Amino acid sequence: MTDMSTLKDWRFSIDEQQIAWAIFDREGESQNALGRRPLEELGLIIERVEAGARDKSIAGLAILSGKEKGFIVGADVREFEQFATEAEVREGIRPVLEMLDRIEKMPVPVVCAIHGFCLGGGLELALACHYRIATRDDSIGFPEVRLGIFPGFNGTARSIRQAGAMAAMPMMLSGSMVRASAARAMGLIDELVASPANLSWAARKAITQRRRSKPMGGWRNLARLWPARNLLVSKMRAETAKKVREDHYPAPFRLIDLFEQQGGNLDAMKAAETRAFAPLMVSDTSRNLRRVFKLMEMLKAQAPKDISFKPQRVHVIGAGVMGADIAGWCVAQGMEVTLQDLSADQLAKGIAAQGKLFSRRFRTKALKDAAKARLIADPNGDGISRADVIIEAIVEKVEVKQSLFRSLEGKMKLGAVMATNTSSIMIEDIAAGLSDPGRLIGIHFFNPVAQMPLVEVIRGKQSREDEVRKGCAFVTAIDKFPLIVKSNPGFLVNRVLAPYMMSAMQRLERGEAPELLDEAARTFGMPMGPIELADTVGLDICAHVGRILGFSAEGSRLERLVAAGKLGKKSGEGFYVWQDGKPVKTEKPYDKRELERLGRELVEPLIRECEKCLDEGIVESADLVDAGVIFGTGFAPFRGGPLHYRASSGAQPASAREAAE
Ligand code: NAI
Repeated sequence: MTDMSTLKDWRFSIDEQQIAWAIFDREGESQNALGRRPLEELGLIIERVEAGARDKSIAGLAILSGKEKGFIVGADVREFEQFATEAEVREGIRPVLEMLDRIEKMPVPVVCAIHGFCLGGGLELALACHYRIATRDDSIGFPEVRLGIFPGFNGTARSIRQAGAMAAMPMMLSGSMVRASAARAMGLIDELVASPANLSWAARKAITQRRRSKPMGGWRNLARLWPARNLLVSKMRAETAKKVREDHYPAPFRLIDLFEQQGGNLDAMKAAETRAFAPLMVSDTSRNLRRVFKLMEMLKAQAPKDISFKPQRVHVIGAGVMGADIAGWCVAQGMEVTLQDLSADQLAKGIAAQGKLFSRRFRTKALKDAAKARLIADPNGDGISRADVIIEAIVEKVEVKQSLFRSLEGKMKLGAVMATNTSSIMIEDIAAGLSDPGRLIGIHFFNPVAQMPLVEVIRGKQSREDEVRKGCAFVTAIDKFPLIVKSNPGFLVNRVLAPYMMSAMQRLERGEAPELLDEAARTFGMPMGPIELADTVGLDICAHVGRILGFSAEGSRLERLVAAGKLGKKSGEGFYVWQDGKPVKTEKPYDKRELERLGRELVEPLIRECEKCLDEGIVESADLVDAGVIFGTGFAPFRGGPLHYRASSGAQPASAREAAE
């Protein structure tokens, strides 16, 4: 029999009540992911429990996590790359499926006790157990579609058995998480306890009482049968198509096919799952989405771990479009924020506007009230001397910003971060005249603050490295992704967006329809076309940024529209007329091949600019350029980033073309 003390990722013990305890505590990691070794070791544990059940020395098995942060975050994405072919995927998955079946067939009760995150492969393991206990606030879900796949450890079949297709399918198709209380209502969880401290006790009780989950039967499972299944499938296809295009993101559509073909029979669905899963796993889409996941981790890792800077208090100056939302976001992340503006009216409006974010973010009135209490109107700047981070978001005028920072210098706390949110002024220019110019950095948020995950941390020529590091620590503390960018006009994101948008506008001048241009960019995979984006950002801002980056708009339609006060969405008209927050478009049935060709042409200026940024060392590596552009512009994630797309599509890089020209 295997010596259980040699396990590296699990702790195994049998207590005096003959209950076996398997505690998942992956060696050298802060979170549990199901990689090859933990799965192999779990296989040994299962073998041991089977033997114990046979000779009556084990009365049940409890599976828990030894990590404070949670149960299991999913399968180990880092190991996905080892599968080069569909056959390898099928071979890799087979033993895991067999092991989960053995858990399900175990003659003694197997109970899973969950706290924190229980995602993807972790949830699939839990679903193979006989009974599931969770703490109230746990986050439970199948995020696989975000990686271009769907659950592949028979989670598709088991979640439908447990929750019914009407609840389980939307959960898998959206990839979003639910709280344990909602998962219990769905039938994925059987029992809730108040806190992780109660889990072992509850697991022991469930085993001694031989509790077994009761899958949701009745009307919910009728959806498995024709014609209900047919109706549900059409509805799911239509809903999914509203969110993503099948040629860009095939995984949810393949999952619907699987359910349509096999959903009436759970064993058939289990058997067919791997066949449908394997091609997705080795597809370019999934590889690129996994790359995006790794780029996200890389951005998070930009925050230094070795500094003692733990920001708690933020002071924001300027309560306009950006400042108020920056303040609100920081509050929603637990910070205490003072917000200052010259205009009392603007201050009141900016604070009131955060109610929506707080309502979305916090479920209880008490939490919402606590957030409101953390956002303090501060017309006189009383918070300056206490703040750990000061962010300026006032008018875009260098002299005004310079004089503001000069006035702050003497009042700020030692060690506090001094940052500007400027989008177009050089950090060096704002810092000129400070007695300690090395202190100033840029912390550049994007609009709308709550939706854009990236924040550029700008290193001016005069900025001290330590301040840049603290800036990254702050950005990570408010749950955004920091990207360190060398100061230069447009930083990274606006610099690469500008030639893309300007060249689309030039095409417009030449008579191409805005609808065609926008549809072509969306066909490539951009979240919004360049013309609609220009209208959304505001044509005045586009013209301003364009001027700074050297794009002359003289005599252009852009300039004429700005002069006429037609600024886009905010004024009700720009390149499009806007109604109810949407552009009025006259769509035509465009040729798909033409759209694809035009889409590739449209992004070409953006990719060239990315190459220049890399050559100039604006950010440190090609991967960081890709990360910045994906998270700052929404650049087609399934293409893995502009530079990765260039390299993998075999297209000629700008430098080679220029050399040939
Ligand atoms: P805004 O015009 O909406 O707001 C500026 C606010 O600052 C106004 O409420 C004004 O009363 C206040 N203000 C002006 N001078 C002040 C002073 N000396 N002390 C206190 N308050 C003062 O401007 P917006 O769009 O929010 O931009 C602010 C900054 O953020 C600018 O530097 C801009 O370049 C940058 N930015 C803007 C983005 C956008 O999409 N609007 C995106 C990223 C950065």
